[in-house]
Amino acid sequence: LEGENVVVVANREPYIHERSADGGIHVSHPASGLVTALEPVMRACSGVWVAHGSGSADRETADAHGRVRVPPEEESYLLRRVWLSREEEQGYYAGFANEGLWPLCHMAYARPTFRLEDWRHYQAVNQKFADAVCEEVDSEAPVILVQDYHFALVPRMIRERLPKATLITFWHIPWPNAEAFGICPWRNELLQGLLGSSIIGFHTPLHCNNFAEAVDRFLESRIDREQTAVVHQERTTLIRPYPISVEWPNRWVKDALTPEACRASVWKELGLGPDALLGIGVDRLDYTKGIEERLLAVERLLEGSPEFRGRFSFAQLAAPSRTTIERYRQLNDSVEKLAARINRRFGTETYQPIILMRAHHEPPDVFRYYRAADVCYVSSLHDGMNLVAKEFVAAREDEQGVLVLSQFTGAARELSEGLIVNPFDFEEASRALAAGLAMSREEQRVRMRAMRAVVSEFNVYRWAGQMVMDAARLRDRERLTE
Ligand code: G6P
Repeated sequence: LEGENVVVVANREPYIHERSADGGIHVSHPASGLVTALEPVMRACSGVWVAHGSGSADRETADAHGRVRVPPEEESYLLRRVWLSREEEQGYYAGFANEGLWPLCHMAYARPTFRLEDWRHYQAVNQKFADAVCEEVDSEAPVILVQDYHFALVPRMIRERLPKATLITFWHIPWPNAEAFGICPWRNELLQGLLGSSIIGFHTPLHCNNFAEAVDRFLESRIDREQTAVVHQERTTLIRPYPISVEWPNRWVKDALTPEACRASVWKELGLGPDALLGIGVDRLDYTKGIEERLLAVERLLEGSPEFRGRFSFAQLAAPSRTTIERYRQLNDSVEKLAARINRRFGTETYQPIILMRAHHEPPDVFRYYRAADVCYVSSLHDGMNLVAKEFVAAREDEQGVLVLSQFTGAARELSEGLIVNPFDFEEASRALAAGLAMSREEQRVRMRAMRAVVSEFNVYRWAGQMVMDAARLRDRERLTE
């Protein structure tokens, strides 16, 4: 990828400029698995990232075309911001993307809502981003990486303008089975939009099959099972699994304090005793992450294993997310109530079992917690990959710490040395937490070493490189048959 002028289009921008209370401007890194994965790739290949400009000081830090060079401390690629009106943001982002497609694809306990006016905004905003991408390309046959469920219509819109483009679309969330997907009133338009891509990538083979099945069921098309490709209106689109990953070596690890220093600082911050044990959870406050189930598993542990009372605390770093949506506000309240109830039940004057930290934490802070914890519990009810699990592994150079991981994450396919659990089964999850807390240092080392070998080899550069190599082969093949 190095030297390639790749254009990425992803809704969330990697650097958000915000006006702070003292009148200054500060830059924040959003909590987003997509950003975690793509940002190092962009730093390596110096292209353009087209994204929604969402920060309160974004306009004044960009030029007249919405362009700003990033990262601020080491400018190496261009961020092109697209401005959205309040109505566009509401309809396209909160509405169709996050109240329609997000629950549709996660099949996780929020009923999707499909409103015609949201769909209209989604179409219009997709066109706006497709136009911005076309302004940023520098050849007839550019390499364009389209990211996620915010932009299902963009591949086809770009294809119409740039027929020779290599368009790789990556869907960062699960793809449900055809029956579930079929309830979306605009299912055909979404599928046709995506099939403007040269390649469509998902995290797992299951999601690839689900997508092919949806195309087969709803569109006039031919499925080439041998090649796992779809031929629609004489265009071939490859469907491939590319399990996403994290940067390795990881820049936040490079700059981190030693694990001992991290532990000392977190212990002090949380007021923990010298023989305390610490579990952590790190998530956006999202109903797909199973945060309530996680706290209930901790409660079960304290109920069934009195030896942990007074000793084991669970710190949940919860970044407020999508707060304009009612379902997210409800979750915020129910998590708060649940934590308070468990704390009333098992807490004392000097001991708090659940430490709920509802705030955005910058990566250096998150890594300090990763490096300090005895156990990290990722309990997603349905998750495409989940990069918290991989970040925790990347953070543990000391080969210590136990990962308890939901079987409903893509990551569970790769990180099988974690303690894999069904997050709905509080018994099983609490047993895994107990086993993690009692695990010998040697066993922790063996498991962590094996997981670190996987994440270091299958890192995010490999994820991106594999997609681009596949696309290049496809392009060569197309040229041969022209
Ligand atoms: C998921 C999505 C990303 C998104 C992230 C954070 O990981 O796949 O596209 O950026 O959540 O959500 P937000 O709505 O804050 O961008």
